[in-house]
This record gives sequence, structure tokens and C-alpha cells, in this order.
Amino acid sequence: MIRIFKGCIIHTPTKDKFEIYENEYLVLDGNLCDRIVSQLDQDLLDLVDKGEALVMDYTDHLIIPSFIDLHLHAPQYIQMGVGLHLPLIDWLNQYTFKIEERFADVNYAKKCYPAFVKDLYDWGSLRSVIFGTIHNESNQVLVEELDKKGLSAMVGKVNMNRFTTIGLTETVNQSLDKTKGFIDYLTEKQDTKQEAIVTPRFAPSCSYDLLDGLGQIAGERAVPVQSHLCETRREMDWVKDLFKDRLNEEKTSYSDVYHMTGLMGNTPTVMAHGVYLEDRDIKLCKENQVWIAHCPTSNNNLSSGIMPLTKYLDLGLSIGLGSDIGAGHTLAMNQVMVSAIENAKMRHTLFGDRMIMESEVFYLCTKGNGSFFEAVHPEKSIGSFEKGAMFDALIVHEEHPVSGSLTPLEQLQRFLYCGEKQSIKKRFLEGLEI
Ligand code: GUN
Ligand code: FE
Repeated sequence: MIRIFKGCIIHTPTKDKFEIYENEYLVLDGNLCDRIVSQLDQDLLDLVDKGEALVMDYTDHLIIPSFIDLHLHAPQYIQMGVGLHLPLIDWLNQYTFKIEERFADVNYAKKCYPAFVKDLYDWGSLRSVIFGTIHNESNQVLVEELDKKGLSAMVGKVNMNRFTTIGLTETVNQSLDKTKGFIDYLTEKQDTKQEAIVTPRFAPSCSYDLLDGLGQIAGERAVPVQSHLCETRREMDWVKDLFKDRLNEEKTSYSDVYHMTGLMGNTPTVMAHGVYLEDRDIKLCKENQVWIAHCPTSNNNLSSGIMPLTKYLDLGLSIGLGSDIGAGHTLAMNQVMVSAIENAKMRHTLFGDRMIMESEVFYLCTKGNGSFFEAVHPEKSIGSFEKGAMFDALIVHEEHPVSGSLTPLEQLQRFLYCGEKQSIKKRFLEGLEI
């Protein structure tokens, strides 16, 4: 059965503009997008008559690529909005670590993760790249909940062997063994849409030996990597001090610590934040095709800083977008996009950075983030409705008295700024409604 989606189709094959097809038809080929047409030709009409093609009529609805969240912490769902008067390191010590400790109890995970996954689903983030905790049993609960809802994610067992609570401090061997165990669990698990990602919390939480061991595991098992990079100045100074014996005149940067330990680009790598990338970081990130997950809500909440988004885009860095809950206070990627736009506008006004276009930020959340999944699955095309792309889509309609009088682009703008979960009427991942 060929499926044809009728409605107002909007996507961003390139950053510089929205492609908008008002009242047109997106024809699928199985689970993949095939073509967008303004009218059904005779062949398609014949197939519809014969019952071999089905028109899914979403007239007056937007059909957009589903959202992707490139960086978030599942356990911190219960902490969203809490303790945000503090800067990063104090917030971690006073709130986050204490909450993550509770996930030693799998029953705690069973209480929290269903609500987290439901919210992720409700807000239309059908793919995501997630930090769990150090606890594999609880991480497995997270995987099961994601599968129950039909979402697809990369899930990381977090690694830490220092500068955290006693309860969260692992030895190097424990940390490495549990990482291998979690990778094995996900590799062997049948019928799952989740996959493992190596997840050193950030360089300060891990000794050089641990980072090195994780780099080896990532390489040997061909597993992607996620961590944090250059989120705050204090953290950067700390990294340079902690690893001063490893850094030298040539290897000067935070990124060098990850690079030396095989955690930068040997396999697809995403680093959260990058607010303060130095020239050397930029060089290493570009050379190793590291994705930077921009997390504007989090950067604002923790007063971390304003990432120079347009500068990084113009330098050719691979940028994505993440909610970074619970330093971020919402899983709604439409709100995260708005925050990215607001931040870029502030930099434009305050520092003269180039102005951002909305299409650029929409691209980051869909095709930009999708490119990270493509790096892990080169056979897939993700994040747009171009020919051959996975049909990952949201059907959006706002029950609002004026929405009919808005142009399609205005409807999208309104959804980005004011959209609620209820505005998302249907969700499709790889062609299947979930
Ligand atoms: N750096 C290390 N851990 C974290 C975390 O949990 N959240 C944020 N925002 N930054 C971090
Ligand atoms: Fe984070």
C-alpha cells in the first residue's frame, strides 16, 4: 500500500530556507519519502481507485519532520527547574548528583522514566541522544520505556570515577566493565530501537585512565561517544589544571583531553554546549567532525553563557540542538529552538554577530541533529522529507481561532513559539505511527 500524506508540508533540506508545499502531497515509498507533488497524477489516482494507494488527508495541518533532541539527561527530568540559581559545578554538586544517586534503586527508575519518556513522546522528540546514570539496571528501565513508546534513542551509561558523591564514584574497572555490559545488553537485545553510546560525564569526572579505557571501548565496539565540552570557563580552567601533565604547548585545549584518549571522532561524537570553544577546540572539532549540541535553555538557566551560534555555523562546525534537561527546563524542542533564536538575536544586538534565520534553527533540530544519526547509520537519511529519507514526521494543528488566517510559515512560527503538546496530532517514526 502506497501512502500519500496530504497537507501543508514544510521541511529544511538546506539551512537557508524553509521549503513549503501548501496543500500538496508527500508520497511515500514504504517507510521512506519518495516525492512531493502538487497534484496526484493519473497513475496515483488509479492506484487510489484500486485501493493500492491511500491518501492520508491532513488538510489544514502542518506536516513537518519530527524533532530530534541531541543532548539530554533522563534522570534529571525530575529535577527540571530546580536549583537553577546556581552555576554549573555548584548545581551538579548540590542537586544533580544527589538526584542521580537515587537511580541506584531500580524502583526509583521505574517511577520516573515512564513519565520522562511520555513527555519526550508528547513533545515530538522521536529520536534523542540521552545520558542515563551510572546504574545499568536503571538504564535498562529507560531502554524498556523508550521501546514501549516506540521512540528511538542512543542511551549512555554515564562514567564517573572522581569529583562526585561517594555513591556515584566508580573504580576505573567497574566503570569500564559496566560500560561493556551495557553495550552488550543493547547489542544482544532483540526488537529494540535503542542503541548504546559511550558517555564519560565530562573530563573532570573521569581520570585519564578511565577516559582512555572508554576511548578504546568506543573504538573496538564501534560505538558513538557523547560528553560535555567548554560549557563554562570555570570547568575549562579546571580541566586544564587537572590534565596539565598531558597538555603542552601544542596540545593546549579541553578537546585535546578527549582527542588524546580516542574520544573525539574515532566514532561519531557529540559534545554538549561548546559555549567557549577556543581556536584549538574548533580545529579539533572540525577535523574530527565532532557535533556540538547547542543547549540554549540550559546555558541561560545556569548562566553559562551565550554560544556564538552563527559564528560556529559560518565556520562550518556540525551543530545540533539539545534540551539538556534538567539544566534545561523543558523537553519541548520548539521552545529550545525559540531559545536558540533568542540567544542568537542577543549576540547580534550585543556583539554584532550575524543575525540568525529561523530556518537555520529548524534545520539544526531536524536535519542537523539527524546527521548525527546518519553518521551512526550511514544507510539512513534522517531529518527531512527529501527522496529516500525516513518518514519521521509530526502532524501539527493548532486549535486556535486565527490559525486559518495565517500563512503556512506563520502557522509554523506560531507553533514554534506557542505550540503545546496538544498541537501535535500524530507522530510517525520510520514510516510507522507511534
Ligand atoms: N557537565 C557535566 N555534567 C553535566 C550535567 O549533568 N549537565 C550539564 N548541563 N552540564 C554538565
Ligand atoms: Fe548536559
